[in-house]
Amino acid sequence: MTVKTAVKTAVVTGASKGIGLAVTRFLEEDGFRVVGAARTVTPELKEASSLAVSVDLATPQGPAELIRQAHGAFGSVDVLVNNVGAFSPRTSGFAAIDDAEWQHTFELNFFGVVRTVRAALPHLVASQGSIVNVSSARARGPQPPTVDYGAAKAALTNLSKALSMELGPKGIRVNTVSPGPTRTPAWTDADGFGAGLAAAAGKSLEEFLEGFPGMAGLTTGRLTEPEEVAEVVRMLASGRTRAVNGADFVIDGGQLKTV
Ligand SMILES: NC(=O)c1ccc[n+]([C@@H]2O[C@H](COP(=O)([O-])OP(=O)(O)OC[C@H]3O[C@@H](n4cnc5c(N)ncnc54)[C@H](OP(=O)(O)O)[C@@H]3O)[C@@H](O)[C@H]2O)c1
Repeated sequence: MTVKTAVKTAVVTGASKGIGLAVTRFLEEDGFRVVGAARTVTPELKEASSLAVSVDLATPQGPAELIRQAHGAFGSVDVLVNNVGAFSPRTSGFAAIDDAEWQHTFELNFFGVVRTVRAALPHLVASQGSIVNVSSARARGPQPPTVDYGAAKAALTNLSKALSMELGPKGIRVNTVSPGPTRTPAWTDADGFGAGLAAAAGKSLEEFLEGFPGMAGLTTGRLTEPEEVAEVVRMLASGRTRAVNGADFVIDGGQLKTV
């Protein structure tokens, strides 16, 4: 007799483009019902997900509202992928970053995850679920143009480890993936992070992106593709890696040089 497993629900934040969209597509392919969240519901997100939710996750109430809608629609939360995050080029140095900018960086990259995990926790306990947090190689390898973002992601990586220790015995796994430079709109948009670095270097975006892998020490010689990060998230979200808890997978094209 074949026993059909119940369809599981995955919540993916920052799902409208880039890494989050790739994760959404892969998890749907793997049979999850994906609830994808972003401020803007793009046609791509609508098509890729089972439910697209428009929500600002940098607000105190946004994360709880997202989890309320996800659980209300499908009755469980089995996987939570905290992918939302953003980085601005701080090319004028540390002293030029004001309190409001520091606060926004932490609200989105760190407190948004704290609040989303808190809201989802009762459902994850019920489902014996799994959390994947998308941090950054900058959590381990700080760089001045991302000083505030790197600090927020270092806090996120630290939080993930502590959560894995508390929640592991309750049957919930918490793991981190830490991408390096990845070809998403953050790098390719005309007003994105890459464009800001290019302008500071006095180069066109195309010229800057061509020279960037060599300059940044990417031993692959290229930016990582969003799908290459999403593959690892998909593996961690699956039930095939139940012994993996509290791990941090760096996916950075060989940029980090320390062990
Ligand atoms: N790309 C890289 O090189 C790289 C490297 C290391 C780590 N990462 C991390 O990987 C994750 C994804 O990055 P990405 O490059 O794929 O980003 P991206 O292409 O800029 O996409 C960001 C996603 O987050 C959503 N978002 C942004 N602010 C939001 C808010 N306040 N509330 C709800 N949703 C919001 C965006 O949609 P809306 O704008 O419509 O809200 C979009 O869906 C982030 O955590 C990032 O820090 C990326």
